[in-house]
Amino acid sequence: MLIGDARRWAAEELARAGVRSPMLSADLLLGFALGWDRVRIISHTEQPIAEDLGNHFKKLVARHASGEPLHYITGEREFYGLPFRVTPAVLIPRPETEILVEKAIELMQRHSSPARFVDVGAGSGCIAISIAKAVPSSTGWAVDISCEALEIARENAVRHGVADRIQFIRGDLLECFLAELRFDFILSNPPYIALRECDNLPPDVRNFEPHLALFGGESGLEIYSRLIPGVPPHLVPGGYLLVESGAGQAEQIREIAESACLSVEMILNDLQGIPRCLVARKISRRSNG
Ligand SMILES: C[S@@+](CC[C@H](N)C(=O)[O-])C[C@H]1O[C@@H](n2cnc3c(N)ncnc32)[C@H](O)[C@@H]1O
Repeated sequence: MLIGDARRWAAEELARAGVRSPMLSADLLLGFALGWDRVRIISHTEQPIAEDLGNHFKKLVARHASGEPLHYITGEREFYGLPFRVTPAVLIPRPETEILVEKAIELMQRHSSPARFVDVGAGSGCIAISIAKAVPSSTGWAVDISCEALEIARENAVRHGVADRIQFIRGDLLECFLAELRFDFILSNPPYIALRECDNLPPDVRNFEPHLALFGGESGLEIYSRLIPGVPPHLVPGGYLLVESGAGQAEQIREIAESACLSVEMILNDLQGIPRCLVARKISRRSNG
């Protein structure tokens, strides 16, 4: 089989299975099987593929066509310009989470002293690691309730050279921290899908991604309701909370934050215009009179 034939065959198989962007997925799987990048594939369509590699590629295509997410097959997902290892123990990082990361980096770069942050529900570590990489003076804590997720996050931190500035802690939200410990930034992309939405999720999400990373109780808001009231005691005066929210949740999260005496500074939209990232601040004693 020639490379050009293989990618056309795979794209047709994936399109029949309802995969979005079938040609891109075919190229990524072919690139993974051959150890090549996409440019090399596209510029070598007349080159034959060895039979064993061709058979391996067909099996990868069959796995993706039957619903397994591409990034669990390749074991990698790019986020904020960096490659992250992903396994079924962690959520596949989503592009909308880059909004939170970008805002956190902007605020940290304006911060007067080296920022100390905590990422609650670290998963693959994509938030904490992208920030530590972009803000070399920062130090962070990455908390997750899943030991398997923390192992992947730690591995990603080593890969990106920031493992010496992030501590990985297994814990339930902020409960693992001593009462007197204060951060400049508390960041979280918590599980926020309502349990009742389970049957409406795309099968690749519902059947393959960790439910611990997806579901925020019956309403979807349970983690926010537990996390946010515990935030002010762990923030310095003027410190920031940045949380990602699901579609239609931002106003309820605003109420939870305001009930915890946080001042909501902004809610950032994603590219679809969906409110996605709430930025709140602990009112500093000085500005409070
Ligand atoms: C939506 S995922 C976010 C992962 C990653 N931060 C990202 O943005 O891709 C939520 C993460 O929160 C973790 N988690 C769920 N409940 C938790 C809890 N009570 N305490 C700490 N982490 C929790 C899950 O294991 C999962 O890794």
